[in-house]
Amino acid sequence: MDNRPIGVFDSGLGGLTAVREMLRILPDEQIIYFGDTGRVPYGSRSRAIITQYSRQDAAFLMSKDVKAIVIACGTASSVAGSLLKEELPVPLTDVLEPTARAAAAATANGRIGIIATDVTVRSGSFQRALHTISPQLQVFAQSCPLFVPIVESGFMLEHPDITKEVAETYLAPLREADVDTVILGCTHYPILKRIIGEVVGAQVRLIDSGRETAAYCRTLLEQNNLLAAQGPGDCSFYVSDRIEEFSKVAGIFLREDVHSSVQLVDIEK
Ligand code: SIN
Repeated sequence: MDNRPIGVFDSGLGGLTAVREMLRILPDEQIIYFGDTGRVPYGSRSRAIITQYSRQDAAFLMSKDVKAIVIACGTASSVAGSLLKEELPVPLTDVLEPTARAAAAATANGRIGIIATDVTVRSGSFQRALHTISPQLQVFAQSCPLFVPIVESGFMLEHPDITKEVAETYLAPLREADVDTVILGCTHYPILKRIIGEVVGAQVRLIDSGRETAAYCRTLLEQNNLLAAQGPGDCSFYVSDRIEEFSKVAGIFLREDVHSSVQLVDIEK
């Protein structure tokens, strides 16, 4: 048993999709969330910069004496997940394996779509994770670079129709490929789940990387005897810029006013 907090980081708001599920299934845990809102998006940056940012994000969480770390960012997972697993002295999960396992279990026709950032798609990380589970799976990957700015700016709240048009353009190749399962491989994308679901159709299973990673976090804590002995849990939020915008979208997504729990941090200090 261990009452220290769990650290979660993402390039911005997307990791809240993991936090929302963690608050539900790990109600006794303290969570410290860092969203790098001053440097988002990660998905269009070089591997060297994404590695540097991910190390800084993890170091910030380690400075808060966390007992485990969740990389709730598809891009940071794809580029720096293995490295941070080796470097950090606490158990760590990224989004890749939990999400790939859920997708492989969900598909009936063996045809799986992946939507993610450009860097994640080009890294081949989800493709490898799926083929490690089953080499027979047919995998179709599509990058959706506008989805992260749409979520970070809250654009989808005021312009759902334009957001849907963007989704229709991105998702057309996956519809043609007849996939029956789609991995939302960037943790921002579950925030657009309703729109994505309308575009691909109700028959297609959407695998939420944030949610699957949260479920695996519980397993990781159990395996390492790190579950909190007593609650109640809660979540403190740190961001590197734009507290107001973060609080607004986070409040809607988590269905509670988080403004008083959000603090600004200089992540490069
Ligand atoms: C991004 O910052 O570009 C997206 C984060 C992610 O891949 O989850």
